[in-house]
Amino acid sequence: MKPVRKAVFPVAGLGTRFLPATKAMPKEMLPVVDKPLIQYAVEEAIAAGVTELIFITGRNKRAIEDHFDSMPELEAELTNKNKIELLERVQNIIPPYVSCIYTRQPAPLGLGHAVLCAAPIVGDEPFLVLLADDLIDAQTPVARQLVEAAHQYNGSIVATQQVDRQDTSKYGIVSGTSVDSTTTRLQGIVEKPRPEDAPSTQAVVGRYVLEPEIFEHLRKTQPGAGGEIQLTDGIASLLKTRNVFARQYEGTRYDCGSKDGFFNATVEIGRKYHNL
Ligand code: G1P
Repeated sequence: MKPVRKAVFPVAGLGTRFLPATKAMPKEMLPVVDKPLIQYAVEEAIAAGVTELIFITGRNKRAIEDHFDSMPELEAELTNKNKIELLERVQNIIPPYVSCIYTRQPAPLGLGHAVLCAAPIVGDEPFLVLLADDLIDAQTPVARQLVEAAHQYNGSIVATQQVDRQDTSKYGIVSGTSVDSTTTRLQGIVEKPRPEDAPSTQAVVGRYVLEPEIFEHLRKTQPGAGGEIQLTDGIASLLKTRNVFARQYEGTRYDCGSKDGFFNATVEIGRKYHNL
């Protein structure tokens, strides 16, 4: 498998669960302590060796572009005031060898459609997908755990965790046969099944390494759960012809798409890394 140099961040969602906070601000810019959610995901991708960040944006997402751009007025002000530590913090959000590319998803047609919007930029290489809503605190960044596993097993790979059966309808749910204590070769994957229909309780969280063949499958994917073009359905088609694995990652995930997950992330990350 070729090296994974590109990461796709679907950030076109409306974030209605956090209204009114997200009325004029992208949900990915909500801060956990002192960093916006999207920055945690970007740092994770860079720690996995990614050098090209591809953001699939929509209306109202300009703040994300500004966040990852330089801000000469602010930098001049911090330099004049000799606030060197703050200056370094704003200058080093993205290392100089990493580039950002923004493209728009013209309509909210689903996660699979958002990923497909990256096809012309990704080209013929494996790539990461990170959903910034899932903030994962881990000793080895989960994106890196996945990239290593993708190379080890030579295939696409999704991060998974066990969930309560009553929660299967919030996730993509996988089924398959285990190849080692934390890795499963996928035989099936379904989007948000009812608990009584779920093939297992192993749920996909927002981290994927995908081979470029996924794009051919997404092009043919019809709207599924919620009337949207689902990434899960594209992967279900991909695994008929390519190897796809699930890896139970090591780390603590916070579902920052929900208020309680976001609150827990703030409290626990604040305590662990900021002495709050
Ligand atoms: C998306 C995916 C789902 C996955 C989840 C992880 O759903 O469609 O398969 O389990 O992310 O967070 P969403 O939470 O965007 O509805």
